[in-house]
Amino acid sequence: MKTTVFLGGGRITGVLLAGLRLAGYKEPVVVHDRHPRKLRQLQREYGVIPEARLRSAVDQAHLLIVAVRPESVADLLKEIGELRRPVISVSLVAGVPLTSLRARLGSLVGWARAMPSPVCRSGRGLTALTFERALPQAARQEIRNFFGKVGPVVEIPESKFDAFTVTYSCSHGYHALATLAGAAKKLGLDRKSALTAAAHALADGIISWREGNIPLDRLLHEAATPGGIAATVMAAMNRSGYPSIIERGLRAGKARAAENAKKSD
Ligand SMILES: NC(=O)c1ccc[n+]([C@@H]2O[C@H](COP(=O)([O-])OP(=O)(O)OC[C@H]3O[C@@H](n4cnc5c(N)ncnc54)[C@H](OP(=O)(O)O)[C@@H]3O)[C@@H](O)[C@H]2O)c1
Repeated sequence: MKTTVFLGGGRITGVLLAGLRLAGYKEPVVVHDRHPRKLRQLQREYGVIPEARLRSAVDQAHLLIVAVRPESVADLLKEIGELRRPVISVSLVAGVPLTSLRARLGSLVGWARAMPSPVCRSGRGLTALTFERALPQAARQEIRNFFGKVGPVVEIPESKFDAFTVTYSCSHGYHALATLAGAAKKLGLDRKSALTAAAHALADGIISWREGNIPLDRLLHEAATPGGIAATVMAAMNRSGYPSIIERGLRAGKARAAENAKKSD
C-alpha cells in the first residue's frame, strides 16, 4: 500500500478527499494539521488517518502533498528538514515556484506543483500540473493518476502556471453567476428566476462550445443578431470596459502569486 500524506487539512484537502472518496480511492491517506478539530472532522467524513505529529506523518509518505497557505510553507518545510529516503512531493501552494521547494527537504525528494480546483469534489475539477525537470516518468505518472481520479489533468509549463491558475479558477464562474444574477434582480427578477436565467446563460453557452465543434466566434455571432438585444448588451458591456476589467483582475491575481513566491523564500 502506498500512503498519501496531506500536510494541511483545510479547504482544498477536504474537497480532494471528497473527490477521492467518490472515485473509490482505497490507498491509505494520512492528514496532518495543527488543528485537532479539523483532523477529527476529516477522519469522520472521509476515514483518513489523522496524525498530529508532523515527523510521524512525513515518515509514512510515499506521496507527500503540501496543502498549507503560502505564508506557512517555508516554516513547515524548514521544520521537516532533509528527508533521507525518496519521496514524491506535490505542492498545491499557489505561486511558490519549484526552485524554492527544491531547496528544501533535500535531493531525494522529487517535486511537482499541482493546482486542483474545488470542483474536484464532484470528480470534475481540472488540475493543472507542472513537474521539476528531473522528476522520473514513473513519478509523473503516479501524480497524473492521483489527480486524474478527481477530474481531468493538464500539464502547463511552470512559466505559464500562475497565468493558468488565475484564469481557470472556478471562482470566475461563481463570481459571474452572482454578478449576472445580481444585475437581473435590479431589473426586477426575483432571486430564484435571476439565478436560473444567469446559470443557464453561463453554463449552457459554455457546454455548447465545449461539446460542439463550432468555433467560439461563430457561436457568439449566432447568439447575437446584429442590432439585436444580445449584441446591444455585449457592446454596452465592452464599452464599459468589460474586457479590461477582466484583464485587470487576472493581473492582480498574478501579482499576488508573485508575492507568494517572495514570501516563501
Ligand atoms: N482553496 C482552494 O480552492 C485551493 C485550490 C488550489 C490550491 N490551493 C492552495 O492550497 C493551499 C491550502 O489552501 P486552503 O484553502 O486549503 O487553506 P486552509 O483552508 O487555510 O488550510 C491549510 C491548513 O493547514 C494548516 N497549517 C498551516 N501550517 C501548518 C503547519 N506548519 N502545521 C500544521 N498545519 C498547518 C492551517 O492551519 P492555520 O489555519 O492555523 O494556518 C490550515 O488548517 C494554499 O497554498 C492554496 O494556494 C487552494
